[in-house]
Amino acid sequence: MSLIAGNWKMYNGPVEAGELCRTLRKTDLPDGVEVIVCPPFVSLAESVQVLAGTEIGVFAQNCHWEAEGAFTGEVSAPMLKELGVYGTLVGHSERRQWFGETDDTVARRVYACLEAGLQVIACVGETEEQRDKGATHAVLRRQVAGFEADQNLVIAYEPVWAIGTGRTATPDMAQEAHETIKELLDVPMLYGGSVKPDNAAELLAQPAIDGALVGGASLEVDSFAAICRAAIR
Ligand code: PGA
Repeated sequence: MSLIAGNWKMYNGPVEAGELCRTLRKTDLPDGVEVIVCPPFVSLAESVQVLAGTEIGVFAQNCHWEAEGAFTGEVSAPMLKELGVYGTLVGHSERRQWFGETDDTVARRVYACLEAGLQVIACVGETEEQRDKGATHAVLRRQVAGFEADQNLVIAYEPVWAIGTGRTATPDMAQEAHETIKELLDVPMLYGGSVKPDNAAELLAQPAIDGALVGGASLEVDSFAAICRAAIR
């Protein structure tokens, strides 16, 4: 089974999210491909409601490690579950880059979400500088060191230099990075970073790539559906 997840980032408030989910509901998505959307927190309730009774899963984009407490601006796993959310992204590079997320806080979030019964897509990936220095594999090993295999855990390999830039890792580069991670952790793995309808098939054909985490191209139903079709095995 392959998995395609759409990371909407800070796009689509409740009204737009509702419209997008209604269009997705009417769209013919392929069997045998697990489809997930990750709306912003404020659009989760609307998305869950509109997609109820479909096979499309709704995930959050982040989640705190405590169940409740004095953590202004954070949202917990029990709160997401109460809303009908299935899982969450954790450790996206934008959170590491702009919001002080570290390997340690990412691991804490992953652990707590799995404990609470949420599915988790944990994101890892090297920066351009790290790749140029030949440090890619060491960085990936360090980033996944805090995770343990779990049936609800998926890892997304997203080279930071490929996110939102139109530059994609070559299928060989992605395959190699996935192999490095799979040696440490035998869980399904998604590739992310400028996945588009015209490059999805060759990336998804790699044996160690089990799906894709899609940013920009998930905001349009046509391109997202085309990527889902490219994931048919
Ligand atoms: P992109 O984003 O597809 O727009 O590069 C991927 C992501 O950040 O998850």
